[in-house]
Amino acid sequence: MSAANTTTPLAGKTVGISISHLTKQFNNVTVLHDVSFDVHPGEIFCLMGPSGSGKTVLLKHIVGLETPTSGSVRIGEYDAADPETRAKVHLAFVFQAGALFNSLSVYDNLALYPREHRLGSEVSIRERVMYALQILSLEKAAGKMPSELSGGMKKRVAIARALVMEPQLFLYDEPTAELDPVMGATISEIIGTLREHTAVTSLVVTHDRSLALSIADRVAIIMDGRIRAVGVPDDFKHTTDPAIANFLNPVVDIKNPRFKQLENANE
Ligand SMILES: Nc1ncnc2c1ncn2[C@@H]1O[C@H](COP(=O)(O)OP(=O)(O)OP(=O)(O)O)[C@@H](O)[C@H]1O
Ligand SMILES: [Mg+2]
Repeated sequence: MSAANTTTPLAGKTVGISISHLTKQFNNVTVLHDVSFDVHPGEIFCLMGPSGSGKTVLLKHIVGLETPTSGSVRIGEYDAADPETRAKVHLAFVFQAGALFNSLSVYDNLALYPREHRLGSEVSIRERVMYALQILSLEKAAGKMPSELSGGMKKRVAIARALVMEPQLFLYDEPTAELDPVMGATISEIIGTLREHTAVTSLVVTHDRSLALSIADRVAIIMDGRIRAVGVPDDFKHTTDPAIANFLNPVVDIKNPRFKQLENANE
């Protein structure tokens, strides 16, 4: 199936994201400094950076949960800060914890959005739900409750539920956090496969070097609220930027531990 295939039940028109001179302050503390980059329609774009560098705050601007102090975030032709944008563009935000409804079965978690938005008959909703479950190899879990699932399965169900919303834009916040390396690789493969099935645009916020460098079309590194570099994965495999090299390939040094340096910095 090609990326341009638009005949599946879950197809939508792809859109890009354009972030231009975005600055965000909370109580006069600047957490995003003049951030600019574009995510092209249909692209898998990974945003990587250390803890606290501003990745989630940036994602929140895209879904309209935060508004810029200055600069702009556009989704396709629309301003992400405009509340009406969410009615015009289908976004799917896969939260780190999955955020499934514990009282609903896997099937009903997936059917909830199309039922609430009256997106067709029960028969066509069933077709969408089963298609999403099949892509994620979850057909046998349809009747299970979330409490019966492992962490990795919950994450797959959360992605399947987002897929049923027929998103034009998939946003993931740390999709492989807390998963073992094999399940992390599985989720990476899923993100890559979804693009083939739906031609969707994906923005993936992650610490996971192997995910970013294996599936991304392009990667941005954010540090201290500033974009440090944007490039294709190969640009980062042999980077000469010491800060990026230290982030991507940290060396464990018990003679000179990092937490001691943090302690000294706070004195
Ligand atoms: N609502 C808020 N009010 C004040 N400060 C905030 C708020 N939200 C985030 N911050 C601050 O903004 C900075 C960036 O936070 P953010 O959650 O974006 O980090 P992150 O890169 O997603 O980190 P992690 O990898 O740990 O998830 C942090 O210093 C955080 O304390
Ligand atoms: Mg975060």
